[in-house]
Amino acid sequence: MNRVYVCHCFGITEAQVHAHKESGACTPRDVASACKAGTDCGSCVRRIQALLGRGAGCASRAELQARLTPTAAAVPAAPAVADAA
Ligand code: FES
Repeated sequence: MNRVYVCHCFGITEAQVHAHKESGACTPRDVASACKAGTDCGSCVRRIQALLGRGAGCASRAELQARLTPTAAAVPAAPAVADAA
């Protein structure tokens, strides 16, 4: 078996990064959460990013921005305050 190491600090291979991608990892941070790759010296983060690419199923930057920007319809109305007087 041919193992190509991506993260030497934690012994993470390309195959493992691809497996995390298949499991839903979209960013190097997602991969780091799964296996710690990229959390020591950080020299592998660009390679991990390249392996992840712009995978299908991952939100684009515009989609993420849209999720973070509340719309008037998404903001719940303030509850009515009963007049205690
Ligand atoms: S090579 Fe991945 S954190 Fe150092």
